[in-house]
Amino acid sequence: MAALLTVVLTIVAAVVSLSSQQCAEAKTTIEPCSGSDSCAALLGYTLYADMKVSEVAALFAADPAALLAANALDFAAPGAAHRILPMGLFLRVPARCSCAGGVRKSVAVRYAARPADTLATVADVVFAGLASADQIRDENALASVDPDAPLDAGQKLVVPLPCVCFNSSDNNLPAVYLSYVVQVGDTVPAIAASYETTVTDVMNANAMGSPVAAPGDILAIPLPACASTFPKSASDHGLIVANGTYALTAGNCVQCSCGPDSLNLYCTPTSLSGSCPSMQCPNSNVMLGNVSTHSTSAGCNVSTCSYGGFVNGSITASLTAGLQPRCPVPHQFPALMDPPTTVNHDSTYLPPLSAPGPAEAGGVMPDPESGSPSSSVQGGSFTLPKVSKANGPAGSVSAASLMDKPRQILPLLISCLVFHLQLCITL
Ligand SMILES: *[C@@H]1O[C@H](CO)[C@@H](O)[C@H](O)[C@H]1NC(C)=O
Ligand SMILES: *[C@@H]1O[C@H](CO)[C@@H](O)[C@H](O)[C@H]1NC(C)=O
Ligand SMILES: *[C@@H]1O[C@H](CO)[C@@H](O)[C@H](O)[C@H]1NC(C)=O
Ligand SMILES: *[C@@H]1O[C@H](CO)[C@@H](O)[C@H](O)[C@H]1NC(C)=O
Ligand SMILES: *[C@@H]1O[C@H](CO)[C@@H](O)[C@H](O)[C@H]1NC(C)=O
Repeated sequence: MAALLTVVLTIVAAVVSLSSQQCAEAKTTIEPCSGSDSCAALLGYTLYADMKVSEVAALFAADPAALLAANALDFAAPGAAHRILPMGLFLRVPARCSCAGGVRKSVAVRYAARPADTLATVADVVFAGLASADQIRDENALASVDPDAPLDAGQKLVVPLPCVCFNSSDNNLPAVYLSYVVQVGDTVPAIAASYETTVTDVMNANAMGSPVAAPGDILAIPLPACASTFPKSASDHGLIVANGTYALTAGNCVQCSCGPDSLNLYCTPTSLSGSCPSMQCPNSNVMLGNVSTHSTSAGCNVSTCSYGGFVNGSITASLTAGLQPRCPVPHQFPALMDPPTTVNHDSTYLPPLSAPGPAEAGGVMPDPESGSPSSSVQGGSFTLPKVSKANGPAGSVSAASLMDKPRQILPLLISCLVFHLQLCITL
């Protein structure tokens, strides 16, 4: 009897350790890679406090205008970078997805710890679950420390963030992948529906055996996109723009959009940068994006001045002409909206709004290397809302999902345990 009990207990212990390894760790899609090429990806980020556009951009070493463009928010509006975005707002942050240590990840983000920051608050609150305490610790080769121990103020951390590219395609169509942190109350069918993709597609992209995801898991969501065909010599080689959004390139001189009707990349001059190289097509008087049409007996001769990449500081523009059955209607652009000031709180997982704590100096170090001409990431110091009682565990979206984790993990652990027991029994 006692021996049987010991055997049962040993099996349970083994199963529990197996289960906790499989269940307690958030799942992230891993894409192996080689070489040093990078590709374009999007990070899904939920604001942990009211934050300026420029603060969110600085946190991710991104350009404020590019951040707005990726969300179809009016990047050309005066003072757009200084607009305050509401806590709980979900944004797509454009990121370079590098190849580091044989896997795709974004490694461009540097964070300077502030007083009272811990690995856990940096990962779960400031970066809203996109990073984990363990990943930050490993990336920075920190000695194994308590994730809740205060970091040294000013301590500089590389914050690795999950991304994938899968050759910028999905089912042989151009796609850009959004890293999405599963929230409490999310289901895979609901996530798929909200991105106009299918459960099967999400499951395939994430190599999932069943359409189930736990809060804190990070899913790669393929978004239909417009791909570019710029040459390797172009600094914006590989540019890809998700349907319904914009990207800025060529030192913010050129904007490229995708959709809503056609998934052909369409680039025009911007009014953002004062000094831009010529954007005229050679041997013509037409500008980037100009389309001219001539009806002929054979159909409509459409000629377009198309953008071909930013090469050696020059904007490549060339005339392309082709016959089409009918003359095209004027180009439709994705709608641009004003940056929102409130968040629609019909989602069940969002806690009520609470006032953020006073802003505090520090937080983000500008990356001296990342230099786009109009980038306001350059120089100066940045303030980020601090992780306080007001916007910490009681108020923040991420912290709320954190608090729910134990409750989420227990049933999961039990279901894993049951699963493994079944496995043991069937074996
Ligand atoms: C990536 O896609 C391109 C075309 O879009 C294709 O030629 C190439 O073979 C693909 N590479 C891989 C590794 O799938
Ligand atoms: C692109 O987005 C528009 C709405 O912005 C939508 O109507 C259209 O179906 C989308 N295209 C694809 C291929 O998803
Ligand atoms: C050509 O493009 C420029 C810049 O977008 C625009 O201002 C101009 O009106 C266009 N001209 C024609 C004839 O479409
Ligand atoms: C279409 O127009 C372009 C320039 O407007 C011209 O170079 C080309 O020869 C024309 N093609 C046809 C088939 O008419
Ligand atoms: C870019 O400039 C460098 C030197 O300035 C030159 O060697 C190279 O051929 C140029 N590349 C292109 C595509 O023009």
